[in-house]
Amino acid sequence: MTASAVRLELKDLHGSLSDPLLDSMNFLNEIVSRHREAISFAPGRPYDGLLDPAVIADYLTAYVDHLRDHAGYSPDQIRVQLMQYGPAGGIIRDLLARTVTNDENIHAPADAFVVTVGAQEGMLLVLRALCAGSTDALLAPSPCYVGISGAARLFDIPVVSVPESDLGMEADAVVGAARAARRRGLRPRALYIVPDFANPSGVSLTTEARRALLAAAADEDLLILEDNPYGLFRADDGPCPPTLKALDDAGRVIYLGSLAKTGFPGARIGYVIADQRVCDSAGRFTLLADELTKIKSMTTVNTSPISQAVVGGLLVRHDCRIRAASKAAVEFYRANLRRMLDALDRHFPAGQGFRWNRPEGGFFVVMTVPFEADEDALERSARQHQVLWTPMRHFFTGGGGARQLRLSCSAVPPGLVDEGVRRLAAFAVAES
Ligand SMILES: Cc1ncc(COP(=O)(O)O)c(C=O)c1O
Repeated sequence: MTASAVRLELKDLHGSLSDPLLDSMNFLNEIVSRHREAISFAPGRPYDGLLDPAVIADYLTAYVDHLRDHAGYSPDQIRVQLMQYGPAGGIIRDLLARTVTNDENIHAPADAFVVTVGAQEGMLLVLRALCAGSTDALLAPSPCYVGISGAARLFDIPVVSVPESDLGMEADAVVGAARAARRRGLRPRALYIVPDFANPSGVSLTTEARRALLAAAADEDLLILEDNPYGLFRADDGPCPPTLKALDDAGRVIYLGSLAKTGFPGARIGYVIADQRVCDSAGRFTLLADELTKIKSMTTVNTSPISQAVVGGLLVRHDCRIRAASKAAVEFYRANLRRMLDALDRHFPAGQGFRWNRPEGGFFVVMTVPFEADEDALERSARQHQVLWTPMRHFFTGGGGARQLRLSCSAVPPGLVDEGVRRLAAFAVAES
C-alpha cells in the first residue's frame, strides 16, 4: 500500500491534537514498551497476576443463568439481550444499583444509571451534557488525572485548577477558584474530584472534608463529579469514609464508577449515576441519565452487551457485593503498597532532600526529589538503572510537579518491588 498523497496540517486539526496533554499517555506507553526489561512503577493498571481468563466464561454463564432463572427470560430474549443492539443506558443497571447500595450505601434507581465504556466515557458524556457554552468551565484538582483534563480538552472546556494540599482538595480552595473563575468571565459548572487515594496524589479526604466540599458546592452552585475507582483499596481494616454521593442529600453529586480495578479493565465497563432532574421548556422532567443516553446513542450507541454480561455475571456470582468479590485484590494492593513504602524507607538515604507521602491505600505514592524529574531523567532512569516511574509534571496543566514523580505499586510483581526501589534510589542519588 502506498502512502496517501493527501497531506494534512496538524494546525488544521482540532487543537487538542497539538496539546502535549494528549501526548502524555503515548509518551509513557512508548517508553514502557522500549524498556520492557525495566521494573516499572509507571502504569496504574491492575496486576496481571490477578486476572484469570477462566472467569470470563464462568461469569457469562452466571449472567445467562440469572436471566433465565431469576429474570424469567426466554431463550429468544436471552439471544437478543446478549447479541443485539441494546438500550443506550445499559442492561445491567439493576445489578449495579443493588451493588452500590450494598457496598457504598448509595441509593439511586436503576434508571439513574448509564453503563459506559469505562469511567472514561462517563466523563465525556457528563462534560458534554453540562458544559453548554464556551465559558462553561470545570474545576479540577491540580495535580489532576489526565483522563478528565484530556476529556475537557477534546470539548474545548476550560479547566480551572484547584490547588491540592497534603490534605487533598479543600473547600476554601474550591470557593476561591470558583470565584476567581467568575471574575474572569467563566461559569464554573462542576467540580471533578477523586476523594479516595487519588490519581496521581494518593491523597484521601476525611469525612469532614467531604462534608465541607458538599457545602462549598452548594454555596457556589456547583455539581460534583465524583470519580471513585480506588475507594475499595484501603490499606488497613479501618472504616472507609462514605462517598460524597452517599453523603449528598441535595442531588449535587454525579458519580462515576469503574469496574476496571475491581473487575478487569479489558471489559471496559464503567457507569454514571446521574439522578439529577432535568426540566424542559414545557415543564416536563427527565433524569440527567436520560439526557446522557442521548449523547451515548451518538457515540458508542451502547456499551457492549457481552462485556456487560460478563460484569453482570461477576455481580451475580458475588451477590452484588463487589467489596466482597475484591478481597484478594484488596489484599494484594495493600501488601504491595506496604512493601513499596517499606522499601522506600530502607533504600532512600535520609537528609538528602527525598520526601514521599504515605497514602492510606490505593495505587500511588508521590515522591519529591532534589532534581528535575522530567522525560530526560526518566530516559536515564530506564537506560542506566532499568527502573520506570511517571513524571508528575504530566498531571499539572498549569505547570508544577517539576521535582516530583509518581510511583505506582499496582502492576509490579511483589518479588520485584524491593529491587525496583533499590534501583530507583541508586538513580535518584546519582541525579542529585
Ligand atoms: C482517577 C481515575 N479515573 C478513572 C480511571 C479510568 O477508568 P476506566 O478504565 O473505567 O475508564 C482511572 C484509571 O486509571 C483513574 O485513575
